[in-house]
Amino acid sequence: MPTAALDVDRLRADTPGSARVNHLNNAGSALPPSIVVDTMVEHLRLEEEIGGYEAHAAAQAQIDAVYPSVAALLHSRPDQISLVESATSAWDRGFAALVHSGQIPAGSRILISGAEYASNVIPAMQMARHHQAVVEVIPSDAAGLVDVNALAGMLNSSVAAVLINHCPSQNGLINDAAAIGAAIRTSGSGAWYVLDACQSVGQLEVDAPAIGADFLSATGRKFLRGPRGTGFLYSSDRALTELEPFPLDLHGATWIPGGYEVATGGRRYESWEKSYAAILGMGAAIDYALACGMPLLRERISALAEYARTGLAALPGIVVRDGGATAAERSGIVTITHDHMPAAELAPAIKARGVNVSLSTPDYSRDAFDAAGISGLVRISPHAYNTQAEIDSLIDIVAELTAY
Ligand SMILES: Cc1ncc(COP(=O)(O)O)c(C=O)c1O
Repeated sequence: MPTAALDVDRLRADTPGSARVNHLNNAGSALPPSIVVDTMVEHLRLEEEIGGYEAHAAAQAQIDAVYPSVAALLHSRPDQISLVESATSAWDRGFAALVHSGQIPAGSRILISGAEYASNVIPAMQMARHHQAVVEVIPSDAAGLVDVNALAGMLNSSVAAVLINHCPSQNGLINDAAAIGAAIRTSGSGAWYVLDACQSVGQLEVDAPAIGADFLSATGRKFLRGPRGTGFLYSSDRALTELEPFPLDLHGATWIPGGYEVATGGRRYESWEKSYAAILGMGAAIDYALACGMPLLRERISALAEYARTGLAALPGIVVRDGGATAAERSGIVTITHDHMPAAELAPAIKARGVNVSLSTPDYSRDAFDAAGISGLVRISPHAYNTQAEIDSLIDIVAELTAY
């Protein structure tokens, strides 16, 4: 395995959980570095001592600083960022604004990636069922990636929105989000580009403006290693100026005599009540990732994932299901099946041996499973703090559990 220039001992010392568990479920919810938990606890203690609103006021400068941190991560401006409670909540706010602002009229087409996440596909299907929109799946290329040429051929003025999953949670791929953005731009279709970056943010460099997404949604708890219950939305300038979020609350808008005024910037996509402890924890996680350096994190996560793929593929009966022609097209999400042990049995058996992996099922992305004719996958998702020895241990366990 190539050695990445990260201080892994330091990463592990910063991650107390790594001494207790072999955690290969970072695509589910990662082990946080202690700075994340310390930051949250400190704020909760302040709330305990002086009151929630008073703690909020006392920490206002640190809370405000989370916006530039997210912006630095996405190469965007702080006013393009909205802090919310999950990736789904972020995505929903963007999609609801498109619907409410009349951007998905009856008869218009919604194009979705083949491995789109269920929570993104279901609202698109709702638009088809209740509002006569047409949902079309963009074909995948031979490597399993969104076929950008096929997309280009589908784009015209009837396309209202293009919904793309940057790193699907169950096929190990990195879709070429920037090429997709370029195809949408050059098509002149005016289609809105909604990018689910839930699994890419934190493991890859994600440059939202360069990608050209109108909305980009992400979560705190996965590869960013932040707390649960956090997420954020990036909005393009046209998403900030041409759309009206729905429903607006008294934070996203102000009740003025005879009507309301929508807030400017990303605030219009936020709600008033939040867990400020969690937000501060997410800010700490982002600052930690930025201090590590996204290119180095990507390099190490990719090296561990490729090492796992090679070792697992060599086991009898194991099939590595990830697509991608080269490592550059693959993410830190590794998926396997076995030819006679169902994933629904294998995943819990691995977990019972002390290695945290997860079971992926069609509930999360139906089309991808149906196309492959499988009902479950074991998902292995290392982070930079994991070691080659931990991957070796996983491979040994899988070999023992699946021995004929
Ligand atoms: C690709 C993808 N999108 C969206 C989500 C939803 O994220 P959240 O649970 O933070 O809403 C997930 C969660 O696993 C995911 O993998």
